[in-house]
Amino acid sequence: MSPHLLSVDQLDLDRISTLFSLAQRMEPIARREKVCRVLEGAVLGNLFFEASTRTRVSFHTAFSRLGGSVCDTTGFTFSSMAKGETLTDTARVLAGYCDAIVMRHPDLGSVSEFASAINVPVINGGDGPGEHPSQALLDLYTIQKEFKRVGRPLEGAHILMTGDLKYGRTVHSLIKLLTLYPPLHITLVAPAGLEMPTYLLSLAEDRGHKIELRATLHENFEPIDVVYATRIQKERFTEEMVENFAGVTDEYRVNKAFLDQRCTPDTIVMHPLPRDSRPGANDLSPDLNQDPRLAIFRQTDNGIPVRMAIFADLMDISSDFDKHLAPVSWRVPAQYGVNDTTF
Ligand code: NCD
Repeated sequence: MSPHLLSVDQLDLDRISTLFSLAQRMEPIARREKVCRVLEGAVLGNLFFEASTRTRVSFHTAFSRLGGSVCDTTGFTFSSMAKGETLTDTARVLAGYCDAIVMRHPDLGSVSEFASAINVPVINGGDGPGEHPSQALLDLYTIQKEFKRVGRPLEGAHILMTGDLKYGRTVHSLIKLLTLYPPLHITLVAPAGLEMPTYLLSLAEDRGHKIELRATLHENFEPIDVVYATRIQKERFTEEMVENFAGVTDEYRVNKAFLDQRCTPDTIVMHPLPRDSRPGANDLSPDLNQDPRLAIFRQTDNGIPVRMAIFADLMDISSDFDKHLAPVSWRVPAQYGVNDTTF
């Protein structure tokens, strides 16, 4: 078995179920009810050559909450790659320093190339428009957890993905992961030119899922269980696309009116974040901020136990790690955000 997590193609239902049971055991640590030192002495190399807030900080936090320490590099400017070093040379150097490595890089396939030179576990934190396996895992974990709360099965669920389905690596990894499960109804709504790659549509159809393509959110839909909105990945556009791109209209904006007209009280709204809140971006609307169906921050919270589980799995953390948990010695607020819903 590969020592790395580079793509969701490496996962099957058994491995996902192992990861999710580990994540569940990590929850008291992630919620700051318990302290764990199982990774004491271990060092994570957190290499981010592309912008990141949550992926970088949540991997850092997940490793730290298991007792490990973290070395961070952000951007090319302060790394030796700016001096012409190859990915594989950098990898071999880092493998001598660190016990696990998380890497994000703007080029498709770069993280796999990096990982190919070393035996220390490497986690793909996003390789350009390619994949983002840990995000897909935390997204699926969120869907399963929210469905459990409202008492509906995953099978037959109607999942709508919208936004930039061409360059959004989170939706690429998520759709692949979802296709492993019993048949789903997946509706894809993207502006012209930003549609889901056809190989992913074929993969989903070949595995028996119902795929529906729609031009805008202003159409009628069968009741939706999950709305997954994404940001337009302008940084990945070619120069020609940037010149010709007029922006997205509100036909792609997930807002309260859309939810009230086309969804149910149990629909959940997800987004990998960040949402683009600049005027004219028409990304996920802030008018849902107090709506309990907005699951985006429950989703980001789930990133911690899921990323801890990934470390536990790849680093073969002792199976009885949770027998040695200690209570926390500081005050933790009952809710992290002022708009958080208690179910
Ligand atoms: C996404 C990413 O970087 O792919 N963010 C994330 O990791 N949660 C989505 C994005 O940047 O739009």
